Amino acid sequence: MLELKQFSKTFKSKLIFNLADFTCKRGEIVLLTGRSGIGKTTCLDIISGIKRYDTGDFLFKNQKVETQNETKLSAFRNENIGYILQDFALIDSYTVLENILLPSLYSPKDKHNRHDLETKARNLAYEFDLTEMLNRKIKAISGGQKQRVAIIRSLILEPAIILADEPTTNLDKENFDLVMALFIKLKNEGKTVVIATHDERFFDIASKIYEIKNCRLIEK
Ligand SMILES: Nc1ncnc2c1ncn2[C@@H]1O[C@H](COP(=O)(O)OP(=O)(O)O)[C@@H](O)[C@H]1O
Ligand SMILES: [Mg+2]
Repeated sequence: MLELKQFSKTFKSKLIFNLADFTCKRGEIVLLTGRSGIGKTTCLDIISGIKRYDTGDFLFKNQKVETQNETKLSAFRNENIGYILQDFALIDSYTVLENILLPSLYSPKDKHNRHDLETKARNLAYEFDLTEMLNRKIKAISGGQKQRVAIIRSLILEPAIILADEPTTNLDKENFDLVMALFIKLKNEGKTVVIATHDERFFDIASKIYEIKNCRLIEK
């Protein structure tokens, strides 16, 4: 599905990845583990096309993704990747519903029907117990609710790959179970889920576990 071949990344003079390899297939749950500051978020940022890497090849469905072309890269990201960022990256002054629908603003107008998207947003909000919050501003909801909004937003355009950066830090048991069930459902639908996490509860459902070590991704 997606491959990063022999990629390297340096911040200023600090080497984070050196000729590392990452692959994930359709219908897999892949974990990225490793100590804090080792490069988990950086790896997700590279997969999502948010961050550039220094050298390496990026393949999606066996086709090279032109990561040097910003327009093409944004289009690739918008169409294929849903990213649940660790700090959620929600817009405080917008409502929950507006935040959920944000990705559709960056996708071609004729591609998604606004009414269908809104129906989908409401259905997802219902599943995640956020119906009452849809018209509230982000600044007026709790951390756990924000996390669920970020999760729903990543799903709204039905991307093939969902990236989640430590997605369970703010969740209580009930919401954790919901997120776990969601990831398994996505996997069964043939989507790919990549999770940066320390949470051992994910180990049982993982198809593959990478540990980042010595600037490489080591399969455990
Ligand atoms: N924009 C940046 N500029 C310089 N260094 C950065 C930047 N982003 C991350 N780093 C560094 O890269 C390393 C890996 O960070 P990160 O990917 O956030 O690790 P993790 O998610 O595993 O905790 C850290 O040492 C961090 O300080
Ligand atoms: Mg991180």
